[in-house]
Amino acid sequence: DTSFTSVVELTQKCQHNIPEQYILPPSQRPNTSHVDNISTSLPVIDLSMMNHPTHRCQLIDKVYAACNQLGFFQVINHGIPTLVMKDALDSAEEFFTLPSDEKMCFASADVHKPVRYGTSMNHELDQVFYWRDFIKHYANPLSQWIHLWPSKPTNYKEKMGSYAEAVNVLQKKLMEVVLEGLGLNGNYLHDDIKEGSQVMAVNCYPSCPEPDLALGMPPHTDYGTLTILYQSQQGLEIMDHNKKWHPVPFIKDALIVQVGDQFEVMSNGRYKSIPHRVILNVQKKRFSIASIHSMHLDKKVGPAPEVVDEQHPVSYKEGSFGEFLAYISAKSLTEGKYIDTLK
Ligand code: SIN
Ligand code: FE2
Repeated sequence: DTSFTSVVELTQKCQHNIPEQYILPPSQRPNTSHVDNISTSLPVIDLSMMNHPTHRCQLIDKVYAACNQLGFFQVINHGIPTLVMKDALDSAEEFFTLPSDEKMCFASADVHKPVRYGTSMNHELDQVFYWRDFIKHYANPLSQWIHLWPSKPTNYKEKMGSYAEAVNVLQKKLMEVVLEGLGLNGNYLHDDIKEGSQVMAVNCYPSCPEPDLALGMPPHTDYGTLTILYQSQQGLEIMDHNKKWHPVPFIKDALIVQVGDQFEVMSNGRYKSIPHRVILNVQKKRFSIASIHSMHLDKKVGPAPEVVDEQHPVSYKEGSFGEFLAYISAKSLTEGKYIDTLK
């Protein structure tokens, strides 16, 4: 039986306390870990100069610095129309308000399912539950997968599909800048990106009566190359090198860009895959759409020879994400870090 109680259903029962299953051990609670509220210095990069013949260089420098320091930045003037973004978020919200049966038909604990509705991270394996419902679906190439996406709400495929396409275009443009920052040709990963995967993780975090005791998502890094994230309100936190958590400020219509593990490996550590988590609030439901881009599961990823020299010797082993998944399931770990196994 793959069905479960979603957090959306749980909160409809109007509870004042969260069920025990969601309560984190004290050391993992958000209020006990160090949070630094000085978040104004987190980089916001204006992409309007992306195609400008001379200003593009300055943009590349800024992107390089952001990827090198934190592996995180927000982008504005990214070219995705506000309406496309809003429609995608609205259709996500409508999906989560559907009656349970309409969503449960997509429920599966199999992480390889091209469309998967779930709660927490993996409700069949998690020891403690996270305050999150999600639907994940493959999106590249869109024509191969979109017919499997939810047919309700009726405009879901159209609205989420437009956003998926737009964000994939943005990802390709950003990838060029990010690669050029490393001194590589912008087309360096052209084929890998074309054949690579785009997984959309559409998340719903209902308001939580006891936000100090639980999390929407545990600390983790993303496994891919780049993740482009759209959030409806504040809630994402990122961890700096001193293990301090920083709330990511909400900037209307901005998108968040995060470097993933495959890029940290490929760049031989010059780019950082940033740990992040999701905190909760008592007032308002939060939604987010993460577009996770990655090289193919079977692609062996190792440091690019061009970024390795005497001063920067190879510091990661080569391996594929598929091998890593096999490794963690053999050890029956529900969480593990791809990157640690490659070090
Ligand atoms: C994620 O880490 O994939 C989602 C983060 C968020 O909801 O802000
Ligand atoms: Fe993530």
